Amino acid sequence: ELDLDIEGPEKDFLDGLLKVLHEDPTVDRNTIIFMLEDFLGGHSSVGNLVMLCLTAVARDPEVGRKIRAELDGLTKGKRPVTLLDRHSLPYTEATVFECLRYASSPIVPHVATENAAISGYGVEKGTIVFINNYELNTSEEYWNEPEKFDPSRFLEKTKVRVRRNSFCDSGMESDGERPRKPAETEKEVWSVKRNIPHFLPFSIGKRTCIGQTLVTTMSFVMFASIMQEFEIGAENLEDLRQKPACVALPKDTYNLFLIPRKH
Ligand code: HEM
Repeated sequence: ELDLDIEGPEKDFLDGLLKVLHEDPTVDRNTIIFMLEDFLGGHSSVGNLVMLCLTAVARDPEVGRKIRAELDGLTKGKRPVTLLDRHSLPYTEATVFECLRYASSPIVPHVATENAAISGYGVEKGTIVFINNYELNTSEEYWNEPEKFDPSRFLEKTKVRVRRNSFCDSGMESDGERPRKPAETEKEVWSVKRNIPHFLPFSIGKRTCIGQTLVTTMSFVMFASIMQEFEIGAENLEDLRQKPACVALPKDTYNLFLIPRKH
């Protein structure tokens, strides 16, 4: 029996799904359950990931200081962070990635749909193949000091062209007659490494996670916004227990303190 007013307006997403189940004979219960699972899973994975980022800051105040220096340097404490700031806040974004590195699932199961060879190993059609992200993310083969929490492992220096507002002016009179172009210079900036071949928290290929952009963008904005406004603390660092290879926090999890910052 449905606890739903079929005639009345939908109160929430679940009502919408139940209504479709009731009204559309081509939609079955499993479809509804999978849709619900994707949305609930999506919602909680962002929340959990942000909690993991805040936990990392509570554990290691130096990480927090670097993030705040980056945030305050950009906004001068005068405006909230937005998604467009992502490229100007590489250390903050790298912290989200470093948390994902710790938390990525060790079980991403796939089934070979045809006979294949992977790195010289024969894989018969029907074989279950796991991408073990945990191993990829914590092996010394791929990372320096993998057990250390260090967002800067995701950073690199890149060259960008910047336009100066001032105009090129040699001081010669003839300059006045030429069309004036803004001066361009090259600058080295820190940015987040993209496409690290062994860092695949969302897997790759046809079945790659459809929620990855949502997760990385929403987590970034939420985490950065909280960091802008609050100091993060914990009563007892011993409480901040985290399961490896797991984004989800336990049901009865620890508390963090958010203390308003003085601007
Ligand atoms: C920290 C958060 C998340 C992580 C680490 C993650 C990771 C993954 C991984 C590893 C897969 C398997 C890909 C494969 O089979 O090769 C996957 C699949 C999937 N994810 Fe996520 N995910 C996250 C959040 C989300 C969110 C927020 C949504 C939805 C809003 C979502 C929707 C999906 C869906 C629908 C699939 C199945 C795609 C398919 O089979 O075609 N995920 N995810």
